[in-house]
Amino acid sequence: MSGEESVHIAAAEMHMADSDLSESIKAATKDSHVRAENTELMRSYVRGQVSSSQYKLLLCSLYEIYRALEEALDRNASHPAVMPIYFPQELARLETLQRDLEHFYGQSWRQKIIVPAATLRYAKRLREIGEKHPEYLVAHAYTRYLGDLSGGQVLGRITQKSLGLKDGEGVSFFSFPAVSSPSLFKQLYRSRMNSIELTQEQREGVLQEAVRAFELNIEVFDDIQEMLSIAQPETDLRQRHIKHSHAQLLQ
Ligand code: HEM
Repeated sequence: MSGEESVHIAAAEMHMADSDLSESIKAATKDSHVRAENTELMRSYVRGQVSSSQYKLLLCSLYEIYRALEEALDRNASHPAVMPIYFPQELARLETLQRDLEHFYGQSWRQKIIVPAATLRYAKRLREIGEKHPEYLVAHAYTRYLGDLSGGQVLGRITQKSLGLKDGEGVSFFSFPAVSSPSLFKQLYRSRMNSIELTQEQREGVLQEAVRAFELNIEVFDDIQEMLSIAQPETDLRQRHIKHSHAQLLQ
């Protein structure tokens, strides 16, 4: 984390030492959210122009990220800092991602997944905190799931429209059938976050981890865009990236 980010969090904390975790986390990640929205990948979305190669690479990375996140959450489901925000029925994304990947890559999608180094770093961090700091998982779950239930809903519609997909095929990641009202669910989620008991030190750690979670996402988006800029045409992607040390093919 940069010095500037620590100062930002320290300032947010000074004003909010007593306020709810959900408010503090939103304040601490406000600038990061703006930066995430301004990545080239997200700007394509804002322009309503996502390409199938962008979306397919995003799905591959999201699969690795949610695999690590949901494994860590499942394993720590009874941890006091995880239990209140553990909503696998409503939120779990892994199966939706498997379905979407199968739609685009066919039955052998597992052999075709390609992710950049940033995605591996993100998944590694998730596994690490799942083992050493389960109380930080709330920062990661917040960053992904509340994002998916917010701007993510718009991203789903843009994906469907720009790729001409029918009947929700290939975009099940964006749909949450067990959440009838995203805004009410977000309220519930925030109140559960606020019920987690944390020491001051743990709370500061969670806020820092949330900034880090956004940073990890930004790096993934930037890496995906870089992969696309050097891979022409799309079918060359795998081979070119095997040659580039910053990308790895996962089985
Ligand atoms: C919330 C838009 C990208 C994480 C929101 C909200 C909007 C939005 C409109 C609702 C704000 C509110 O209810 O006050 C967008 C757009 C994006 C984008 C247009 C990209 C084009 C992202 C990304 C992430 C993210 C990449 C993280 C990886 C979040 C989170 C919230 C949120 C965690 C909940 C904030 C809170 O209520 O505490 N976003 N977003 N967003 N977004 Fe995004």
